[in-house]
Parts: sequence; C-alpha cells; structure tokens
Amino acid sequence: MKIDILTLFPNMFDGFLNESIIKRAIEKKAVSINIVNFRNYSKLNNSQVDDTPYGGGSGMVLMCEPIVSAIEDLRDDDTTVILMTPQGMTYKQAMAHELKQKKHLILVCGHYEGFDERIRSFVDMEISIGDYVLTGGEIPAMAICDSVIRLLDGVIKEESYREDSFTDKRLDYPTYTKPYDFRGMKVPDVLLSGNHQEIAKYRENESLKRTKERRPDLLD
Ligand code: ADE
Repeated sequence: MKIDILTLFPNMFDGFLNESIIKRAIEKKAVSINIVNFRNYSKLNNSQVDDTPYGGGSGMVLMCEPIVSAIEDLRDDDTTVILMTPQGMTYKQAMAHELKQKKHLILVCGHYEGFDERIRSFVDMEISIGDYVLTGGEIPAMAICDSVIRLLDGVIKEESYREDSFTDKRLDYPTYTKPYDFRGMKVPDVLLSGNHQEIAKYRENESLKRTKERRPDLLD
C-alpha cells in the first residue's frame, strides 16, 4: 500500500514514522508513506497557501490551488483521496478494514480555520475521527494510517487483531499477565486452568458482558 499525506507540518510525522510497528511496517515494505508539504505546490509569492474568508470572519482559509494541484500530481487511476474534517463520516474499525484493501491513499490534512469549500469536489471521502475539533488533520491522518497499517499482511500476527475490540461489534475481553496476585486482585482461575474450551467460553461471555455494560449501542 502507498499513502501520501498532504500537510503543512511534515515534522509532526517524524515520531509516528520512526517508532515501533509503523517503522517496522515501512522497513518490511508493507507500506510506503510519503509526507508532502503542499506549500511546495503554491504558485504565489512567499508560497502562500491561505487567505482571509470571503464574507468576513476570523482566521485564515486554505486555498484550493496548492491542495488541488498536489492531489492531481499524486493521484492515479487507483487512488482514494480522503479529506480529514470534523464534518466527515465518523471513523470506525470497519472503515479501517475497508481502507486496508486500497492500493493508494492520499490523506489531506487541513489546518487553521478551515479550507475552501471547493476542495471537497476533488476528494473521494471525508473522515472525522470523532466529535471534537483538533487544530488540524495531522493527528486524524496518523490515527487512520495506524489503524490501517496494523491490519496489512505481515505487519502484526492476524491473531493479534482478529479479536480486537469492535471486530464483530464487540469490545475485547479482559486480559491479565503476571503476577497472579496484584495487591489482592487475583487473575480469574479459569485462565490458569489450561482448559482452552472453558477459556474461550469465559472470554466470549466477558466480551459480551463488557459490551452490554459499556457500549450497548454496538449490539443494536
Ligand atoms: N480536523 C480537526 N478536527 C478533526 C476531527 N475530529 N477529525 C478529522 N479531522 C479533523
């Protein structure tokens, strides 16, 4: 998979690309990630990318030209262009599984007050990572990349994500590690029983119980 990320703040991605599972996925060539500063596509003096809003109002608005030129330069016949915006479709695990099938993604990160409405005509989908407003689309882009990349073949073991929360519309079951007794809180005995059938049943029940308690909306 290839991912191009359009941003005015490429340095924000340094840590994300150079640590842990994402770093390994890049080294293994499961994904290639290209951070593109769309300021480089500005044709204006001082590489201007934003201007004041028509009709007045506070803040600056990202202009069409640099972002649309970057999209047109980078896209091919098999590209999905995604705009990060709080007005987009709310991101869910099921969407991560859909995006994992794509060959090439372009993620567009807005910043400042917003972007010119006409940019919407040049993207295939709009995604929000939740009902709150961030200073820009960079963190949402990282969240999407992270959730998709961990599902790509060879990045983590399939059994590690098969039972993730939200797969099968359930929250994950509780897990424990050593010590057996932590300040009087003991690990449920069934997990030490060695009986795989009983353990599977316990986990299934706990997963359902937890989902009913915390996220009954998932079961609707
Ligand atoms: N940009 C600012 N806030 C956002 C959000 N919640 N989701 C996606 N993009 C955003």
